[in-house]
Amino acid sequence: MTNRTSSVRNICLLGCGGFIGSHLAERILADTDWHVFGIDRNPAKISAFLTNPKFTYANIDIDSAEAVDEYLNRSDTVVSLVALCNPSLYNTVPLQVIDSNFTRPLKIVERCAALRKRLVHFSTCEVYGTTISYRAGMPFNSTTDIFREESTPLVLGPISAQRWTYACAKQLLERAIFAHGKENGLDYTIVRPFNFIGPRMDFLPGIDGEGVPRVLACFMDALLSHKPLKLVDGGRNRRTFTAITDAIDALMAILAQPKNSSRRIFNIGNPANEISIAGLAKIMIDLYSELRPECADVSFCTQTVSSMEFYGPGYEDSDRRVPDISLAKKLLGWSPSVCLTDALRVAIGFYIKEYSGALACREVV
Ligand code: NAD
Ligand code: UGA
Repeated sequence: MTNRTSSVRNICLLGCGGFIGSHLAERILADTDWHVFGIDRNPAKISAFLTNPKFTYANIDIDSAEAVDEYLNRSDTVVSLVALCNPSLYNTVPLQVIDSNFTRPLKIVERCAALRKRLVHFSTCEVYGTTISYRAGMPFNSTTDIFREESTPLVLGPISAQRWTYACAKQLLERAIFAHGKENGLDYTIVRPFNFIGPRMDFLPGIDGEGVPRVLACFMDALLSHKPLKLVDGGRNRRTFTAITDAIDALMAILAQPKNSSRRIFNIGNPANEISIAGLAKIMIDLYSELRPECADVSFCTQTVSSMEFYGPGYEDSDRRVPDISLAKKLLGWSPSVCLTDALRVAIGFYIKEYSGALACREVV
């Protein structure tokens, strides 16, 4: 058991039923003696913890101010994860995206400031937008285009490119948190995750959710259904994928070290895991074939689709997102250690185990 010396005793996880929240709750329950108050509208991913005496679950919306206040009051630390954070929504339901990423969580920020609770808030690497060079029509510059928390400008597209509603809402909330720190003494830490991946991420369309999930689940859906993996605009854009276990290590370091993380913004990502989306598809096809030798006869393939076709009008992509993680290394003593192949092997294994049965039933029906 770790972190007995940390000041955390009671922690409130808003959005604890999601991908990151479920992993964070799992780790806290396994490694600490903290009591977790978990709030989410959907308990499916946390069903294993519901009977744990150190876990109290509330199936409420964060808009239920009085009910949420009860749990904030009982906690010393609040982690805010609630969001609509799926790119297929940013240009299709932009008002809901702004609401869920700015308007609603702003109330949580205000309550944490008023109640003197420590807030760990989940922002996103999308606040950086595109690289400066990409906007200027120049090649990637490994000095100026690496994203740094305290110096890199945040470069979003025009208003008509509605993809940026999410990044803009998250950025405005970061600015509100910063201002509450300055004006109202809010004790906060802002986390900018870089494409965390792992078990329990998103859903498979038609099985346990509807719509278009993020790329990992899109590719898993294709692999499990023997359909082509769709490469948006050829899969030329690049991401830096981070194993959820490394990410949770970073979060635990933030929670355990309030002095080193207070009033800081941290990039949490693994620069060594940068790859193009076309490259990601290739690795996933290879790993899936290795993990499912019974599919040896299936020839998996990719198919290029335009972003207009896949996401609709108003979508624009980030070209590359490479984090500078020296702040987290220096202040938290954290470094990621899981390579992309290992992270994907674990994630793919999870989806195979979790969904093969449901997919087989669907085929029979
Ligand atoms: P997720 O969608 O899996 O989890 C979000 C959870 O919030 C869901 O369980 C949902 O039911 C819940 N929720 C949404 N609105 C709610 C409301 N009004 N009341 C109660 N519950 C509500 O997302 P995630 O991947 O776990 O991401 C968590 C946070 O991290 C988000 O703020 C997201 O923007 C940020 N983030 C995640 C990543 C990543 O790699 N997964 C990257 C960048 C930023
Ligand atoms: C994600 C989401 O905005 C958030 O969850 C989060 O804040 C952030 O980035 C993050 O994870 O750090 P993005 O990386 O664009 O945004 O979302 P993905 O759906 O994972 O897409 C990654 C890339 O794959 C994009 O270029 C997308 O166009 C492409 N893609 C997606 C495909 O080529 N095929 C697909 O089937 C799905």
